Amino acid sequence: MNALLAWLRALFSAGEPALADATPADAPGIARLHAQSFRQGWSEDEIERLIADRSVLTQRARTGRRLAGFIMSRHAAGEAEILSVAVARGQQGRGIAQRLLISHLGRLMALGARAVFLEVDEDNVPALRLYRRAGFREVGRRPGYYAGRYGRPANALILRRDLA
Ligand SMILES: CC(C)(COP(=O)(O)OP(=O)(O)OC[C@H]1O[C@@H](n2cnc3c(N)ncnc32)[C@H](O)[C@@H]1OP(=O)(O)O)[C@@H](O)C(=O)NCCC(=O)NCCS
Repeated sequence: MNALLAWLRALFSAGEPALADATPADAPGIARLHAQSFRQGWSEDEIERLIADRSVLTQRARTGRRLAGFIMSRHAAGEAEILSVAVARGQQGRGIAQRLLISHLGRLMALGARAVFLEVDEDNVPALRLYRRAGFREVGRRPGYYAGRYGRPANALILRRDLA
């Protein structure tokens, strides 16, 4: 009966992403999504270690039973760095990353972070839109930092968002 109720709940909540802190059980799904989203994947073991690390905050979004996205950052001494954020291809463009990011910034603030940094490829339009709408501003630039998707090296932008 409980299993049936859980299944029905998952079925009817499929449209609405559910956000929660990631647990080690999320590591395989996050590793798969990371590998689909970035050239350099992280192994399941690495992700499990990061999830267990007390200075790392990892949140995931699920639609129904499926992992739809995750966000991960490291925080220390009042500053945080977003290490990775990704949403499954079939689920993109529905505001899932925006929800994850807003929730994440709130959590980081509660953990004592006063400024959040990240690096992003200047050609990554969806990511730049996501960050700019969330109040991140460019504070630096690393020329030719990424291999680049269009046959030329791409610059990394360093973005900052104050939380205080
Ligand atoms: C970046 C990423 C996480 C965004 O996830 P998402 O759930 O689709 O994002 P949202 O639906 O919350 O939308 C965020 C913004 O991106 C825009 N966006 C989403 N998909 C887009 C696309 N294909 N092209 C242009 N803009 C897009 C949205 O319009 C929105 O901007 P707006 O608020 O100004 O309209 C997702 O594209 C992804 O996983 N990319 C691969 C991994 C990656 O590059 N991560 C970032 C590394 S720094």
